Amino acid sequence: MKIIIRPDATAACTTVADMMRTVVRAKGRAVLGLATGRTMEAVYADLLSQEARDPVGLSGCTTFNLDEYCGLAPDSAQSYRAYMEAHLFEAAGLTRAQTHVPDGRASDIDAACTAYENAIRAAGGIDLQLLGIGETGHIGFNEPLSSFASRTRRVQLDARTRSQNAEMFAGLDEDVPTDAVTMGVGTILEARRIVLLATGAAKAGIVARALQGPITAMISATALHFHPDVTVVLDTAAAADL
Ligand code: GLP
Repeated sequence: MKIIIRPDATAACTTVADMMRTVVRAKGRAVLGLATGRTMEAVYADLLSQEARDPVGLSGCTTFNLDEYCGLAPDSAQSYRAYMEAHLFEAAGLTRAQTHVPDGRASDIDAACTAYENAIRAAGGIDLQLLGIGETGHIGFNEPLSSFASRTRRVQLDARTRSQNAEMFAGLDEDVPTDAVTMGVGTILEARRIVLLATGAAKAGIVARALQGPITAMISATALHFHPDVTVVLDTAAAADL
């Protein structure tokens, strides 16, 4: 595991955008695993502005997002599909056919999860998987006690996660969905390369436990120690407890 500590969040996000661009440039039609959350907004903004100045072929990529809430209205602005359209897909010229976000509204969730796994496989697997980290130590929405062998599935969100994400739901924990669909830890570990980004002082404690604590299913991010090609990019605030 390689750890890169940058002076601030802007620099950390640029480092991650540069790593993504390197993969897209090298691979041509790369398959990118994408993440949501406030941390990633600056990564996508940087990616788009660099692409405008010096295109590497972002619009030719195929993408798979980590997760999606269950039970939101189809046009909900809080859905991760809406987030991705707003922060990346529309401006990058990535179409519906190229972009995959788990379907939190499928009538048969299990079948939709199997289809999601099959689509990743059919695309040739993920070249680079981008990850954030939640305060519970989740990657995607793999909350504590997710099996390290888990696959894409429906999960219940931890109360701490619902609180952490309430800001996007007018600050009301009770408006945050109780369930989500997420790639499993096992699905994530199959990506050829993984980049985890964390910025800000609020992440310092969980970052230290994820990187230096014992490997435990109580902190899904500790599963990353089993992957041969992981880079963790932090700003100094998120690295403060290392
Ligand atoms: C959500 C997502 C995670 C993400 C986390 C961090 O819970 N499911 O994939 O890592 O948010 O969010 P933020 O960047 O807003 O701290």
